[in-house]
Amino acid sequence: MKKIFLFACVATMLAACAPQTEQTVNDRKSNVFMDLARRRYAVREYAQTPVEQAKLDSILEAGRLAPTAKNVQPQHIYVLQSPEAIAKINELTRCAYGAPVVFLVCYDTELAWTKDGESSGNMDCSIIGTHMMMEATELGLGTCWVKWFDAAEVAAAFGLPSNHKPSFLMPCGYAAENSKPSEHHFNRKPLSETVTYK
Ligand SMILES: Cc1cc2nc3c(=O)[nH]c(=O)nc-3n(C[C@H](O)[C@H](O)[C@H](O)COP(=O)(O)O)c2cc1C
Repeated sequence: MKKIFLFACVATMLAACAPQTEQTVNDRKSNVFMDLARRRYAVREYAQTPVEQAKLDSILEAGRLAPTAKNVQPQHIYVLQSPEAIAKINELTRCAYGAPVVFLVCYDTELAWTKDGESSGNMDCSIIGTHMMMEATELGLGTCWVKWFDAAEVAAAFGLPSNHKPSFLMPCGYAAENSKPSEHHFNRKPLSETVTYK
């Protein structure tokens, strides 16, 4: 009995380590991540339905799990959702799109890892934001990545400490009934244009 158990364990381990062929990669029964990546699009029209706190918690937790350079976790995320904050951000950018929640993702300029004079803050925030975006999609919510704002103006309007540098905004909420992907969403270059094997 012991021998059978041992054999089963070794066989399972070997199967897990075996290189995946094109066939086995394509034949996966569930391809959760790729389905999610295909489902996501930039949502620019939102319903006014509030986003449940449990969903906000889960989106923020997904961001917390993201890797950051040297693991310094320099992010600070402002969750704009009060009527005053939402009115203010809509005055500062035309790209908040009336969402009930807008994440203002910042990094601490004193904490972010710097190499050769270049801060990893924006890179860290982008990975965190991508985790958040995908979790929001998984939870049936829409998001849009937004760079169209003046960081200094936004920092001043929300009274941010001088070391909290805004990286990007992310409106988030339930997509409006008539929301649909823009034509850009369907326009991706073929891998042959963007990948080189060496
Ligand atoms: C770094 C970055 C900045 C962006 N800034 C804006 C923005 O300011 N306003 C906006 O409406 N969309 C913005 N987008 C969304 C892109 O336009 C959108 O992701 C792209 O056209 C592909 O469409 P899809 O997200 O629907 O697939 C931004 C996306 C990225 C990654």
